[in-house]
Amino acid sequence: MKILVIGGGGREHALVWKLKQSPLVEKIWCAPGNGGIAEEAECEAIDAGDVAAVVKFADKIQPDLTVVGPELPLVNGLTDAFRQRNWAIVGPSKLASQLEGSKIFSKEFLERHQIPTAKMYGAFDFATAAYPALSNVSWPLVIKADGLCAGKGVFLAANRSEAEHFIQRVMERNELGPGGKRLLLEETLEGEELSFIILIDGERYGTLVPTRDHKRVFDGNEGPNTGGMGAYSTEDLLPDNLRATVVDKIVEPTLRGLAADGIRYQGFLYLGLMLTKSGPKVLEFNCRLGDPETQAIVARMDFDLAEVLRDVAAEKLDTSKLKWKPGASVCVVLASGGYPGKFEIGKQIEGLTSVANIAGVKVLHAGTKLDGDAVVTNGGRVLGVTASGPSLDAALAAAYAAAAQIHFEGVHYRKDIGAHATKLKAAGD
Ligand code: AMP
Ligand code: GLY
Repeated sequence: MKILVIGGGGREHALVWKLKQSPLVEKIWCAPGNGGIAEEAECEAIDAGDVAAVVKFADKIQPDLTVVGPELPLVNGLTDAFRQRNWAIVGPSKLASQLEGSKIFSKEFLERHQIPTAKMYGAFDFATAAYPALSNVSWPLVIKADGLCAGKGVFLAANRSEAEHFIQRVMERNELGPGGKRLLLEETLEGEELSFIILIDGERYGTLVPTRDHKRVFDGNEGPNTGGMGAYSTEDLLPDNLRATVVDKIVEPTLRGLAADGIRYQGFLYLGLMLTKSGPKVLEFNCRLGDPETQAIVARMDFDLAEVLRDVAAEKLDTSKLKWKPGASVCVVLASGGYPGKFEIGKQIEGLTSVANIAGVKVLHAGTKLDGDAVVTNGGRVLGVTASGPSLDAALAAAYAAAAQIHFEGVHYRKDIGAHATKLKAAGD
């Protein structure tokens, strides 16, 4: 098989790395790719969100299968353009991707199908309508921009003046761009978050191992939200009884709801859950795999990803093929100084060759590029040091040993990825 992977972050490096291990795979292209992907696939400098440019490239190379990583090409209708031409692709349609592309669409979907989620106070097209609605909410309040905002569209307001300030920035000053034209106000949920991702072939679905992301930039969940500073997966992250509830109350009703609404879904569906005292609830849907969740998921895959994705594109998913390595996996994200705020790029990265031989560790690149023979930083999240092992402690020890050997100016990373799980275990919970 010849495969085209769309995207250029850590998630896509994880996909390329795993796909390349398949004996079925002859060649991989990645558009646009990054400095690490360039060592394993042929990269093509195309903007992933530019549907016409991707179609043109695919027409030239004629891949047997295309796999889409990020949300933007999906929301822009890339899979629709491919399917019109009968080209095999994994990813939901433009319409189905509205589950991520519009938070109001997804909230209305959740309410219509009685799927547990945070209560919505209202959705607004104008700031003048949103301000008075603040008199009828509980605090803290979650405010969400309706459209895609590169991870900046969710705000937790402690009080009315913080809420007014955010609404003003987004709706009156358009600071988040077109994604902030409409806003949603909703109840704040408390609990542990969990990323539960399923793979759907249009009819059947299989579940991936659950993972937990760490969204705040600093240890102890302090500081602003990021795209994700690290993730882990263990066998006991989601106990059987809770998994059954997630499937019965969330996954199955979601699939029935999509069918009832006439929306065909093929591809990955990411259910961002809050495990609250009154049961699991949906925080968000994403129409794709998570980043850095994918790095931790791929590290536990014990199956041929190329074969399974080929089957999904052909609507023939055999869920019994989804086999997982026991034990645990972890991904620790090494970020640029200043991220998620302003940061500089072009810093030389040292230590990558010395960690390449550590057993069980794979350094997956996100914001990197090649500069001659050197690998330099090229984004906020730079590397995802990924490790698997027989236990979470073993995987963490390997990942942190490798992370300590990698250097670039300003590098920072969380030292407590998975620590909460280790603590719960020590306390016998
Ligand atoms: P979203 O873009 O909807 O995934 O939200 C990003 C992050 O904001 C989530 O992963 C949560 O950490 C947080 N979040 C979103 N909605 C809520 C909510 N209703 N209550 C508490 N936290 C939330
Ligand atoms: N790590 C969160 C996401 O991919 O949306």
